[in-house]
Amino acid sequence: MSGQVPLALDYSYLSPEVTADEILSWQPKVTCAHQLLMDGTGPGNDFLGWLDPEAIMPAAQLTAIQQAAARLRNEVEVMVVIGIGGSYLGARTVIEALAAPGSPQVWYAGQTLSAEYTAQLLAALEGKRFCLNVVSKSGTTTEPAVAFRLLRDQLIRQVGKQRASELIIATTDPAKGALRQMAAQEGYQTFPIPPNVGGRFSVFTAVGLLPIAFAGIDIAAMLDGAVCCAHACANPDLRHNPAYMYATARNLLYAKGKVIELLASFEPRVHYLAEWWKQLYGESEGKRLMGIFPASVEFTTDLHSMGQWIQEGRREIFETFINIAGGMPAVKIPADADNADGLNFLAGMSLDEVNRRAFEGTALAHRDGGVPSMTLTLPELSARPFGALLYFFERACAISGYLLGVNPFNQPGVESYKKNMFALMNKPGYEAQSAEVIAAVQEHVGKHVVTF
Ligand code: PA5
Repeated sequence: MSGQVPLALDYSYLSPEVTADEILSWQPKVTCAHQLLMDGTGPGNDFLGWLDPEAIMPAAQLTAIQQAAARLRNEVEVMVVIGIGGSYLGARTVIEALAAPGSPQVWYAGQTLSAEYTAQLLAALEGKRFCLNVVSKSGTTTEPAVAFRLLRDQLIRQVGKQRASELIIATTDPAKGALRQMAAQEGYQTFPIPPNVGGRFSVFTAVGLLPIAFAGIDIAAMLDGAVCCAHACANPDLRHNPAYMYATARNLLYAKGKVIELLASFEPRVHYLAEWWKQLYGESEGKRLMGIFPASVEFTTDLHSMGQWIQEGRREIFETFINIAGGMPAVKIPADADNADGLNFLAGMSLDEVNRRAFEGTALAHRDGGVPSMTLTLPELSARPFGALLYFFERACAISGYLLGVNPFNQPGVESYKKNMFALMNKPGYEAQSAEVIAAVQEHVGKHVVTF
């Protein structure tokens, strides 16, 4: 672990809606939330393993992950990560943001029940050398379990049962669950998901790190960024803790009616960062009829679709910009003798510079239009700052949830759709509810339909 946390939060554009003094006046509440988290006396305290990334990823396990990733890179062209929600979004976020061109490919399954997607994936894997990393803490989640059955069948058909067992890695609970049992029976290599780490907080366990390492990304540097950020967060002083400042500001904004937060970036490579962030905050805070609705936009693309709404629609939103300060490829805009498109004023400028002016202009216009914002800057898209960034959001999420007054570490609401779905499919154990749920669906579906 070395050096400073390579992140900075600029909250200048929260004004006039929220002032620095107002934020600082929340220091006692923040210190209290910090204490609950550090003492393990707050709600959800059996899911705090993620707080200390060094503890959940001991050096020996990090090495084992690096070795497994290196072995698989030698043996296959593609790793298919099978998982949903917290069991795949962290890996995808980092891989899409950081994987170098030409690095080993990681594909995804089990994050959808789409027959179309799955059929295309199976067809694309035909004749390819591939391995499977099946990730499920419970080991029983329907979407990845179904995908695993399909992909395992195909792998066995392509390479035989014994070889398939060498190409399947299971990341799951260390002791229990269907996947743990299958792995023991079939002799799969396994990595543990610590029982005290929930899915959306699991990116620094083998859940995230194995696929990320397979894609050739420096997981030790990523972990180092997270560890540095964790150490820096030991200080709850808002003036020195951007993660706590962010958590406090968004709660103040929420209290003033800003109920939607847009995570906005000017870089498509961080698209999945927004997906991961939406799960983290949505699942952690959307409880007891409360919580900021986390949404995302990708600029400048979405300035031409959502820009109008953001500038002049209902004033219930605020923005958090992800700003990547450097490291972009040098794409220079050429001069043109005719200047028929009138663009010679940009000649010689880099595309990144133009993008940057677009960011500055947008943030100002939105602030002037009544959309307060914060900007989180990382120096470049590389492993260490990115690790720090992910930890930043995890830590801020925990504090934000405590400030809001919810348990940020459970997700009771996620069960409702599952109960109905299982009852509709007559899953063993759900027979009693089956008739009732089928009747409820039949009563409502198709009752009021309009057709041409
Ligand atoms: O954050 C969470 O807890 C969820 O998104 C889970 O990760 C997701 O539902 C998958 O669960 P499991 O890993 O048990 O298959």
